[in-house]
Amino acid sequence: MKKSIVFSAIQPSGVITLGNYIGVLKNWKILQNNYNCIYCIADMHSITNKINPKLFKKNIMDNVALYLSCNINPKKSIIFIQSHVKYHTQLCWILNCFTYLGELTRMTQFKSKIKNIFNKINLGLLNYPILMASDILLYQTNKVPVGKDQIQHLELSKKIAKRFNKIYNKKIFNIPEPLLNNGNKIMSLSNPKKKMSKSDINKNSFISLLDDPKKIHKKIKKSFTDIDNPPKIYYDIKKKPGISNLLLILSNLTGKKMSIIEKEFENQNYSYLKINVINYITDTISDIQHNFNIYKKNKDFLEYILKYGSKKASKYAKKTIEKVYNVIGLYYL
Ligand code: TYM
Repeated sequence: MKKSIVFSAIQPSGVITLGNYIGVLKNWKILQNNYNCIYCIADMHSITNKINPKLFKKNIMDNVALYLSCNINPKKSIIFIQSHVKYHTQLCWILNCFTYLGELTRMTQFKSKIKNIFNKINLGLLNYPILMASDILLYQTNKVPVGKDQIQHLELSKKIAKRFNKIYNKKIFNIPEPLLNNGNKIMSLSNPKKKMSKSDINKNSFISLLDDPKKIHKKIKKSFTDIDNPPKIYYDIKKKPGISNLLLILSNLTGKKMSIIEKEFENQNYSYLKINVINYITDTISDIQHNFNIYKKNKDFLEYILKYGSKKASKYAKKTIEKVYNVIGLYYL
């Protein structure tokens, strides 16, 4: 039987964070065994925000090396950069014509991203979910591993695909389903009401997979601590968002259930919990960084993987574009 297709992507708007790792990347290597996996560096998504060109190029290649360092095997999975496969933007334009303005202005992420912009809101911010739908639909994807924050975008992708299929009364696109690893959202270390994000201007709010042990130590030590007297350690996102976030990180990195973690720390103080969190993060990240340092030295190899990946991805994407052209009545040569 043909394996189902998995598509997922991370934006190179910064170095991959512990949140991205726990939310999706950690699970990507496991999926390779049962699915045909396509893992993309979503660079076109990142230019919806202001970027520093030099740093952006570095982040793109660092993130490719990080995919490999997290055991994404290029012999099993396709690894490629979004802008290297022209069909993404091509399909995006077409799907623009099948999406309503209200559907885009209702997106929570759009609303929060434009909160502090008073004029000159670039249209990329609005269209972003259509580009994401194009990424997914081009490959006839069955499953999309994402964190909770992307579910609304995925629902819109499904809606657009269903609408398109209905208009032409043909199954042009497969209808994708989300694959929520565990649904855990890792929060900012300095403000646990906000998601941990690689583009946060406060560098202490996130752990990047390339942080050194000293930085990790400093960031966790400084992380938001809930005030209660006497300080108790248990999981309750509303009452104790800071401690709950640290417990969630521990539970994900150790693979232990939250109830077991709570038991282990019930009579301990915050400082002891933080030291444990530091140790587990450092252990996880040092293995990744060991691989990273090897890949990073081999630019030719990284470029070879990317060329090979985009060639393979293009082959699949072209098939969908051809179907779309034909059904719409565009002339395909
Ligand atoms: P991005 O780059 O913000 O995040 C990549 C993936 O990581 C998840 N994630 C988190 N999970 C848990 N805790 C967090 N703090 C956390 N932060 C991020 C996200 O849910 C996401 O799955 N638009 C996407 C990239 C994208 C994409 C796609 C994803 C472009 N095209 C097609 C899937 C399919 C984004 O900005 O992800």
